[in-house]
Amino acid sequence: MTIGVIGGSGIYEALPLESTRTEDVSTPYGEPSSAVTLGELAGREVAFLPRHGEDHQHTPTDASYRANIYALKSVGVDRVISTNAVGSLREDLPPRTLVVPDQIFDRTKHRQPTFFGDGMVVHMSFAEPYCPALVSHLASAAEDATDADTATQEGGTYVCIEGPQFSTKAESEFYRGQDWDVVGMTTIPEAKLAREAELSYATIAGVTDYDVWKDDSEVSLQEVLANAAANQDAINAVVEHAIRTMPDDFESEAWSALEGTINTPAEAIPEETRE
Ligand code: ADE
Repeated sequence: MTIGVIGGSGIYEALPLESTRTEDVSTPYGEPSSAVTLGELAGREVAFLPRHGEDHQHTPTDASYRANIYALKSVGVDRVISTNAVGSLREDLPPRTLVVPDQIFDRTKHRQPTFFGDGMVVHMSFAEPYCPALVSHLASAAEDATDADTATQEGGTYVCIEGPQFSTKAESEFYRGQDWDVVGMTTIPEAKLAREAELSYATIAGVTDYDVWKDDSEVSLQEVLANAAANQDAINAVVEHAIRTMPDDFESEAWSALEGTINTPAEAIPEETRE
């Protein structure tokens, strides 16, 4: 097993990886956000990539999502633990709560969400956008690895906006009206691409703010950064524990996600049924 970790450089610095080395992976989708760092933790191989680049130079829209997933797959990763900063859409999810979402609502507009196309049509199931086995493993790691002050919610809907601006009040109220839980900018297209690459994928999201629905609040970047820094310790502990306790017999349905999908050269699909 090789466990991929996508997140900020804070995680990489905190993970006590041994025998580290870096690999520059070239991909048909351009450069990954950085070289992949590989190392060992508790006898497991770990491959780390910072989503936004080593100097946080990529926006949520132009991060190298396809190249990153391709690079992790090509160094042998079969499961990915991702980390995100998110705003809360619920009173009972205050800043510094951890959430392991199990659903996504995609509001992105300018991202390339597939490896396919160019004459190859693949419709795959995405009803469960995160791997349920990894969601449950991450949620129990969060329970075990954090103290009583850090609440964790297992499950919930992550609405992914395009950004880089935060939401308007109308948008935020709309998301709350849908009973969604958290809002962020980065789980799409990562989750879609991971599924196409047959990788088990789930995310641990740290709440940094109440978005803009509460008490006439604005999202302040200072507040986001301060709470993100505070969440980082808890997230690091959860990721490390999740790696250490990854069951040897872990299995994911994502590993056979392409089986039985429509996988057809476009010209073989009757014209009247093409989209
Ligand atoms: N990341 C952190 N807080 C956020 C928010 N309120 N909206 C979107 N992305 C975020």
